[in-house]
Amino acid sequence: MIELKNVSFAYGDEQVLNNISFKVADSESAIILGPSGSGKSTILRLLLGLLDPQEGEVLIDNQIINKMKEKHRRVLRKQIGMVFQDGALFDSMTVGENVGYYLIEHTDMKWDEISMKVEQMLGFVGLRASEVADKLPESLSGGQKRRVAIGRALLSTDPKIMLYDEPTTGLDPSMTENVLELITKLQSEKSISSIVVTHQIADALVIADRFIVVWEGEIAFDGDMDALRESRDLRVLQFLAPFRLALSEVGKLKFIGRKET
Ligand SMILES: Nc1ncnc2c1ncn2[C@@H]1O[C@H](COP(=O)(O)OP(=O)(O)O)[C@@H](O)[C@H]1O
Ligand SMILES: [Mg+2]
Repeated sequence: MIELKNVSFAYGDEQVLNNISFKVADSESAIILGPSGSGKSTILRLLLGLLDPQEGEVLIDNQIINKMKEKHRRVLRKQIGMVFQDGALFDSMTVGENVGYYLIEHTDMKWDEISMKVEQMLGFVGLRASEVADKLPESLSGGQKRRVAIGRALLSTDPKIMLYDEPTTGLDPSMTENVLELITKLQSEKSISSIVVTHQIADALVIADRFIVVWEGEIAFDGDMDALRESRDLRVLQFLAPFRLALSEVGKLKFIGRKET
């Protein structure tokens, strides 16, 4: 349902993506891995139709989003929930207002009803409304903020697909595990497929069906874990080198997802 077809993108003179292509099918979970600056966040912006490629096509549900008017893009975007790198909550709004933002701004729903939905959503992402709903985001921990951002994305759209940009960056190991668990729960309970962008491979190992490695604006690898382990592509080897141990230990890692592969 999501596809990049021969996409090239530059910010001004800076070429960032060179003729890249990949597809993510319905209810598939893909991880986009790659070093900092390799173009991962740019790929997500292209998928949301926030940027347009100079060449190639970006397809959502077989429709070419980069040739659409903004009005039509907005319709497609409703199927996509996005969690930005820093959580990106509104600082001056309470946690409850952040989560209910879309319903408050874009629907006629009464506050009672919104507040019930917000409470349910906070519960779903593992937070207690009575404890956090009236607080400002600044008083939450990093992991709690990330959960609130996921809750907001879920209540803003009715997403068939979730995009996460570095969802665990800056979190301690137990918070990281919590957030990964939530991502996996969404995949299984709500059948929401996901694209998770990360430079932390340990995360990727726990949640993905499929790995796409971006290296200097090109797709260096696209395949499953076994193929990733066996890849002899120099770019892949270079990227994985620091993680060799994690990779060999992967069978022993706790799998929190639906897959026991
Ligand atoms: N808004 C922008 N304007 C100009 N250059 C940008 C912009 N955003 C990102 N870049 C550059 O594009 C390259 C890829 O960035 P990005 O997609 O953010 O990579 P990643 O998410 O993999 O770290 C980097 O060299 C970055 O400096
Ligand atoms: Mg990035």
